[in-house]
Amino acid sequence: MCGIIGCTGRAEDTLDVLLSGLEGLEYRGYDSAGVALANGSLEICKRQGELDRLQQAVGNSLRGPVGIGHTRWSTHGPPTDANAHPHTDCTGNVAVVHNGIIENYDELKAELHARGHEFESDTDTEVVPHLIEAALAEGASFEAAFREAVSRLEGSYALAAVTADTEAILATRHDSPLVLGVGDDAAYLASDVPAFLEYTDRVVYLEDDDFARLESGAWTVTDADGQLLDKSVSRVEWDAEETAKSGYDHYMLKEIHEQPRALRKCLRGRVDELTGSIQVDSLEGLSPSSVQFVACGTSYHAALYGAQTLRDAGIPAQAFLASEYATAPAPVGDDALVVGVTQSGETADTLSALREAQRRGVETLAMTNVVGSTATRECDRTLLIRAGPEIGVAATKTFSSQVVACNLLAATIADRGDSREIVEALRDLPGQVQELLDASRAESVAKRFVDSEGYFFIGRGHHHPVALEGALKMKEITYKHAEGFPAGELKHGPLALVTDQTPVFAVVTGDGEEATKTVGNVKEVEARDAPVVAVTDGASDASRYAEAVLEIPETHPQVAPVLANVQLQLVAYHVANELGRSIDKPRNLAKSVTVE
Ligand code: F6R
Repeated sequence: MCGIIGCTGRAEDTLDVLLSGLEGLEYRGYDSAGVALANGSLEICKRQGELDRLQQAVGNSLRGPVGIGHTRWSTHGPPTDANAHPHTDCTGNVAVVHNGIIENYDELKAELHARGHEFESDTDTEVVPHLIEAALAEGASFEAAFREAVSRLEGSYALAAVTADTEAILATRHDSPLVLGVGDDAAYLASDVPAFLEYTDRVVYLEDDDFARLESGAWTVTDADGQLLDKSVSRVEWDAEETAKSGYDHYMLKEIHEQPRALRKCLRGRVDELTGSIQVDSLEGLSPSSVQFVACGTSYHAALYGAQTLRDAGIPAQAFLASEYATAPAPVGDDALVVGVTQSGETADTLSALREAQRRGVETLAMTNVVGSTATRECDRTLLIRAGPEIGVAATKTFSSQVVACNLLAATIADRGDSREIVEALRDLPGQVQELLDASRAESVAKRFVDSEGYFFIGRGHHHPVALEGALKMKEITYKHAEGFPAGELKHGPLALVTDQTPVFAVVTGDGEEATKTVGNVKEVEARDAPVVAVTDGASDASRYAEAVLEIPETHPQVAPVLANVQLQLVAYHVANELGRSIDKPRNLAKSVTVE
């Protein structure tokens, strides 16, 4: 999705800050990028394609004390130089960058066109600089013109604007994130903290319809009526090192390897090994009659896991795809809870489902990785998963942390007092993930099957979400066909697709009834000559029917999915690496999907 960066107060190196900010936003996914610097006139450079192209085109020729930059992920019009942001007015004196969608741009464009404005792009954004131009022409100040333009907009937006002759950036947001960075003598603006984390870890989260003014390194925030707001400055816990590749070839691999640390952070201060109890401050007093999870993609798989874990703990629970939640039945009982599982806290579909829940009068909980994200600000409660920044588009460590957070949620609200068994398993989990990472044979399995036609993933019970997640990871970074199924479902149709060219990854742990049934399903595919890869703790005889085995340490059945999933993350990574794919930025995908 699109990204915004802005800065004032840096004097000589504004351009460097903008370009490194855009690099920090690359992970969100983009297809073009641009910058504008103001120094009495506006200097603008924008290019379709990777940031390198912009960097080459811009050299280090642009100077100015104020600048804004943007990475674009096309919605209105193809990725071209002309459609890249910043967009300008007819005079070239106003430049604007925008995330989101302006829904009434057609009518605004027609109106402006009729008043003689000329447009150069297919974008919805371009109406904004022209609206500002029109108000300036009537004698308004830059700030009044900006407010006037914003008052005409419908839809979602994070906007930043500069003019040639003011040393200020004006910005506002509505349903699209925007955060200020507070430096010693500089002020920054971004859609996402990693864009300026190199320069400051002090931030101010803007609320919907706040207006920010950044000038000569200082900042103020006012409301829609221009009243000064008293905003608190908070410190983000992430450091720049966490958002660097640190010697790994890809962020995804780094993040897979960060899982032991991420899980320790998720558990810290929340589990008590002595008493076997689990306590999460933000969940205190929560005792819902039923729970609905809403989420998308990988987070939906964690939500499926969460719903099953709650049901196992005796709490009625269901998981819904957030984009389908509008048609879901109302939750059962007066004290229901809706949990939005969302790494970014900004996914439009999930936010919209949470808002639907609030309209229905239901309490909401954001299970998220991002402090200050929209989900945290809009929900009644927040359960932070504390995975640290995730830059690779494919979610890895955040899935593991979400699964662990679901266990914390289940143990807390089921209120069974002694959760000793699960506490012990969770305590050992980070070490076991490390053990698995050190010994994994996923790379050789990936090399063995890199040329396969497609991949199937099966798992039962708690391993069903892992099968879905294994397939999603495989398809999104390798671009090859992959499907995940509940193990028992394969024979009801998909089995027709299984051949000796389609390895089947079977997740089987323990030796109980579930495992026995899954081993039965393994035999079915093996009998059709499909190579089987058993992802197993070795307790069942699944390995006997497998061409390859990915071992996982023995643990509590509820915790085993995390370990199995790490093996599948590694397989997908190594297949994609063998194929030379763009692992951290897969085609067509964005890290944070802020449109419905
Ligand atoms: C897949 C992936 C996506 C996200 C989905 C939801 O690897 O990352 O499927 O899980 O877009 O994003 P969040 O969790 O930010 O709501």
